[in-house]
Amino acid sequence: MSAKTASNAFDLSTWVASRSKTVDAALDRFLPKASAKPATIHKAMRYSLFAGGKRMRPALVLAAAEACGGKEEAALPLACAVECIHTYSLIHDDLPGMDNDDFRRGKPTNHKVFGEGIAVLAGDALLTQAFEIAALAKGWPRYSHRDLVLEIAKASGSLQLIAGQVADLEGEGKDLSVPQLRYIHERKTSALLCCSVRLGGMSANCTPVQLQALTDFGYNVGLAFQVIDDILDVTQSSEKLGKTAGKDVAAQKATYPRLVGLEKSKKIAAQLTQKAYAALKPFKGKAVALEALARYLLERDR
Ligand code: IPE
Ligand code: IPE
Ligand code: MG
Ligand code: MG
Ligand code: MG
Repeated sequence: MSAKTASNAFDLSTWVASRSKTVDAALDRFLPKASAKPATIHKAMRYSLFAGGKRMRPALVLAAAEACGGKEEAALPLACAVECIHTYSLIHDDLPGMDNDDFRRGKPTNHKVFGEGIAVLAGDALLTQAFEIAALAKGWPRYSHRDLVLEIAKASGSLQLIAGQVADLEGEGKDLSVPQLRYIHERKTSALLCCSVRLGGMSANCTPVQLQALTDFGYNVGLAFQVIDDILDVTQSSEKLGKTAGKDVAAQKATYPRLVGLEKSKKIAAQLTQKAYAALKPFKGKAVALEALARYLLERDR
């Protein structure tokens, strides 16, 4: 398909490496120094933030901004804000009261190093930090600063990301239906990925048609992302993933492999990615980084 041909010539790993460097440097500037009092909390925040995540959400923000002809500096605070939200959600997701995981991003989890109390607070602080950073973003004629902040608050709030996490916990050990599982995936994962591409577009003062295209793209890529995450939990090693593999089966989590099997799960992820490609039509082949990211997210092994 044409979307594939266009992104074939695009060197995604070089693109992601350069964007990750920019994002990491900006995060380092935005966050209080590790030595700032109380040092424990700032060390804990930085420990998880700089532990080696794939930086896919910031990449989606920046790729969407590029697709809409925006400037990196306008998108950068928003890219950093979503990574802070994502990292907070992982710290809390790993807590003993949630998924009880000992490894994350190739290192012991935050609570294993700093204790549960500090890990809860490091998550809280990163969530708050996200809004402080987002406050630095500029509004545009089509999207006010208020629109940007609302976008982040809604995607991470109790009707979206948190709703998904609640349903994920309540679904443990139950035989959920596919629509119930989709409800979880839409909220715990797809909402923040969709928010990421929308923010990128908004930072470039994108047209309503472009924003709708980004929304459809982000929704489908976001769902595919979690289906693949479920698949990798079954098929990959802990070393490769940087987190303990096989935990979903152990915790009797509702996942795509559990509900429909591995092969059907792979097909569903591929179909969702095709829908994501199709959504990029209004960009007329100019959304190369987004296309390449969608393909990478489908084919990834970590
Ligand atoms: C893991 O996200 C959590 C999910 C929503 C599935 P990532 O796979 O993006 O984790 P990092 O940021 O690379 O560690
Ligand atoms: C995590 O989903 C989603 C959020 C943190 C919002 P998972 O629990 O499947 O993520 P991993 O597998 O621990 O990374
Ligand atoms: Mg979880
Ligand atoms: Mg988990
Ligand atoms: Mg998982």
